[in-house]
Amino acid sequence: MKPLSPKSIIEPFRIRSVEPIHLTSFEHRQQALAQAGYNPFLLRADDVLIDLLTDSGTGAMSSRQWAAMISSDESYAGATSFYRFERAVQDITGFKYVIPTHQGRAAEHILFACIAKTGDVIPSNAHFDTTRAHVESRGAQARDLPCEQASRTSERHPFKGNVDLEALRETIAGSKPGEIPVVMMTVTNNACGGQPVSMANIRAASALAREHGIPFIIDACRFAENAWFIKTREPGYEHATPIAIAREMFHLADGCTMSAKKDGMANIGGFLALNDDALAVRCRNLEILTEGFPTYGGMAGYDLEAVALGLYEALDEEYLRYRIRSIEYLGDKLIAADIPIVQPTGGHAVYLDASALLSHMPAANFPGWALNNALYLVGGVRGVEIGSVMFGRQLDGSERLAQTDLVRLAFPRRVYTQSHVDYLAEVILAVAAQKRELPGYRIVNQAPVLRHFTAQLEPLPVGSV
Ligand code: F0G
Repeated sequence: MKPLSPKSIIEPFRIRSVEPIHLTSFEHRQQALAQAGYNPFLLRADDVLIDLLTDSGTGAMSSRQWAAMISSDESYAGATSFYRFERAVQDITGFKYVIPTHQGRAAEHILFACIAKTGDVIPSNAHFDTTRAHVESRGAQARDLPCEQASRTSERHPFKGNVDLEALRETIAGSKPGEIPVVMMTVTNNACGGQPVSMANIRAASALAREHGIPFIIDACRFAENAWFIKTREPGYEHATPIAIAREMFHLADGCTMSAKKDGMANIGGFLALNDDALAVRCRNLEILTEGFPTYGGMAGYDLEAVALGLYEALDEEYLRYRIRSIEYLGDKLIAADIPIVQPTGGHAVYLDASALLSHMPAANFPGWALNNALYLVGGVRGVEIGSVMFGRQLDGSERLAQTDLVRLAFPRRVYTQSHVDYLAEVILAVAAQKRELPGYRIVNQAPVLRHFTAQLEPLPVGSV
């Protein structure tokens, strides 16, 4: 007998606690979506069958995490749970100061409130929307410098999340001293298709920033997924462990912001980690004002425990292999059916190219929004538009249509199985088959910033131009 060398990449866990989900009727979904102002963010989660709105805080925790949570220390100050959390973050990132926050944007708020001022420029491979909003709320400019390949959705490139190094060099050269308080790097690059950033790119961007005395900060939400891509795509790293790769990435930086709702494998939590003594003091003082005492910072002791373990679980090779493969599995099915998606598939999500799929629909009628709503109506699937509704409104109130309207289908960690993914592909293909029947949308009500969360829309007559 010979042992099997399996081709199947299985879920490296078994399920002992289940959460029922329900298939609703088409009429029910029509009504639910209308009541939600045609905004999937405003749907009740119970009315959704497969929820791919986000991979943030939606994952399943392990039995080890739950066990650790039961024995947490809820002391206001100096809790053992904090020290376990701090040790884990320091072990993986190497940063000196660990400032817990209730989620990623709270870390962004503290960081930018302490370092950014009117007229500053903060370059990045691409800022996530909350990062951008925090930078802009200080009167600074959030400048996206994605690499050239990032905008060509169907072109395959191993590291489409990279920053454009030449553009970064020019941005630094064109700025006055002190005008760039930090250079940011988002790994993986969520705003650009969840695409990874190579170690070579991180190293070069870090060197550029440091050459000019500018701190280099990583938005580390999906650091483990990025480490896996480096391992599997960047020559020289094939034998390195994900944790060793992660350590090398962080070693090139002066700090990080983190949403532990992603690769922290927790339902809530985050942190800001820094090396700079004086900056850490200022950040901690602000933390006390907005988040809480520095040994809990908006997290319960049990959240700190969940993250302390989750950070390591996210770096587990078997988990990462399954995680990245399950995204690619959906991508392969869609590519085989000629559905335009961002290629190659990224870490946490499949991004449908709505502009290409609905090329007959004017960009001003929000094809990304239209496609996402159709996925809900046809199959009870909820994704998120990443396009002109999310990014189109400028600070001065004018509209600038996004270059490409995407629909992101983000996978909660350790939640859905292969048959869910098979069903999902069926829904997407069914929507694509009736693409000319999809209405475009117009906004009837919106907030001045981050409008996509609460905007109310209405469908336009099918075929409107
Ligand atoms: N940075 C990136 C790259 C993110 O993707 C997110 C959140 C944040 C920062 C903010 O973290 O939500 O904990 O405050 N992204 C979620 C998403 C919401 O759906 O992509 P948070």
